[in-house]
Amino acid sequence: MCGIIGYVGGRPCEELILGGLERLEYRGYDSAGIVLLDDDGLTTVRAVGNLAELRKAAHAAGADASAAVMGLGHTRWATHGRVTEANAHPHADASGRITVVMNGIVENYARLRTELQDQGVVFRSETDAEVIPHLIARHYEGDLVTAMRAAVSELEGHFTIVAASVAEPGRLVAYRQETPLVVGVGEGERFVASAIPAFLPETRDTILVESGEIVVVEADSVTIHDGDKVIARDVTRVDWDEDAAEKGGYETFMLKEIHEQPAALRDTIGDRLRPDGEIDLPGLGLDEAALARVERIHIVACGTSYHAGLVGRYLIEDWAQVPVHVEVASEYRYRTCLAGPGDLVIGITQSGETADTLAAMRVARERGAHVVALTNIMGSQAVRDSDGVLYTRAGLEIGVAATKTHTAQVVALALLGLKLGRARHVLSAAGAADLGDELHRLPDLVQEYLDSPDAAHALEVGEAYAQRSFFLYLGRHVGMPVSYEGALKLKEISYVPTEAYPAGEMKHGPIALLEEGSPVVVVATDGHVFDKVVSNIQEVRARGAEVITVATAGNEEIAAHSDAVMFVPRTPPLLAAVLAVVPLQLFAYAVARARGLNVDQPRNLAKTVTVE
Ligand code: AGP
Repeated sequence: MCGIIGYVGGRPCEELILGGLERLEYRGYDSAGIVLLDDDGLTTVRAVGNLAELRKAAHAAGADASAAVMGLGHTRWATHGRVTEANAHPHADASGRITVVMNGIVENYARLRTELQDQGVVFRSETDAEVIPHLIARHYEGDLVTAMRAAVSELEGHFTIVAASVAEPGRLVAYRQETPLVVGVGEGERFVASAIPAFLPETRDTILVESGEIVVVEADSVTIHDGDKVIARDVTRVDWDEDAAEKGGYETFMLKEIHEQPAALRDTIGDRLRPDGEIDLPGLGLDEAALARVERIHIVACGTSYHAGLVGRYLIEDWAQVPVHVEVASEYRYRTCLAGPGDLVIGITQSGETADTLAAMRVARERGAHVVALTNIMGSQAVRDSDGVLYTRAGLEIGVAATKTHTAQVVALALLGLKLGRARHVLSAAGAADLGDELHRLPDLVQEYLDSPDAAHALEVGEAYAQRSFFLYLGRHVGMPVSYEGALKLKEISYVPTEAYPAGEMKHGPIALLEEGSPVVVVATDGHVFDKVVSNIQEVRARGAEVITVATAGNEEIAAHSDAVMFVPRTPPLLAAVLAVVPLQLFAYAVARARGLNVDQPRNLAKTVTVE
């Protein structure tokens, strides 16, 4: 949560920083700020709201005319202190000569704040971050690196800090403790940022900073300190597509990313699936023999990634006959962990940064389990904290509501299921090849769906139901997590209350919510529980509910049980989870748009959740 960027070089940097913040806005967007440093001191501008508000405030303050060649920027997702201009970053020390932006949480800030107040420091915000400039100032004797080192030794938590001092022009000093930090290396200029897209239009040459390191960035140099040692680190050139951070003709990132799902799935399958059905997943760090010995799988994840894990359970248990336990990471991390050697623990996190997922993975790893990160971000913290990795190749996802990374996660889990099934001799070569063929067809089927009138119809159904005040989502078997994901999409971008339940469990409570005309969204794709789902539909219709179904193309029976049907192409029932979620993404999208909401930046949310 929160995005930070710093620049030092030879160009006036106000626009470079604002542009970088716009590309980091997915990390937080409740308020933002910028500070420019020149011979006259600090020019700080902050604003409540998104980057457009900061731009207006910067213009009003004349910051856009500044010739300053060094500065910092921050886009905030509030943790400590309400969303106010005073709580927006950057924060300065009492002298106004040291300025700081931070991403993360200082856990012991309350004690430090009291100590500093006892020494006469006057705080101007309610944030945990503000203790940092005051602490740095307390230790400052002309060298920001020494002061930073002393300050962070007093801090607990996980955070990335970038600081600058008017007394040391041309020098940014940053520190990373867990939350991400990357350096961008340009011609006579350097950037520091939470993520590479911040400076991607300017340079593709990057240096990753590890946890515990201080990095000093000047226009022509980058110096990394690990404790008292200065260490060398190679520059890595990224080949990311800059257009990924643009909407490419779509009205929103979310809509663009929904339409990028065929490519995300195709790339995630890539060369890993051979024509004979054999799967290459070398990154797992487990050979065939080790895979055959896996006794249990634990999947830990949050939100949409958790829903992908729930779908994965059905695939893996069916294809590999190994028990799979799936749990939200924020619960798993605080339970007595019984994972150990012989267990495979998969942490699913598209960002690779989610604090709870990282913590759950760490707990299992300490117990001796083999931990694999399933993530979309190369070199992310989840990868560094794991014994193996399975990448989705969905490309950068900007919309806060995850879409293409979710279906790519399911496909990655399908590959893992096939791999395990073969290694454990549960799946025959022919059986795996057949399933492999079906998996290969999935990207084309999603494309076929998105290009068809059925996709347009899903948007129309969403519009038709947009003003309803509550939706119940139901599904069974693999349709159950699909219904959970559909409900999450709707609530997070449209703010309409939803309840999602296993269809068979609905009569044990949620059915009491229904009244005449209540809309109920049911995942009713073909499979061995289809008739059971139809019975559940009858139960809600008998209570006056209106039923919207997601069903398999060619199913002639479903229309008789539905007020609206959203058809998807036919696949084997387990793989239908990938297709069935797409109309639910579109449905949620249409509801939110009809309500006039900003689907890419839903209120209170952030794309990466680096706090627990
Ligand atoms: C998805 O639409 C949500 N914004 C959210 O639930 C997300 O999936 C969750 O925060 C997990 O993120 P991660 O995959 O980056 O760990």
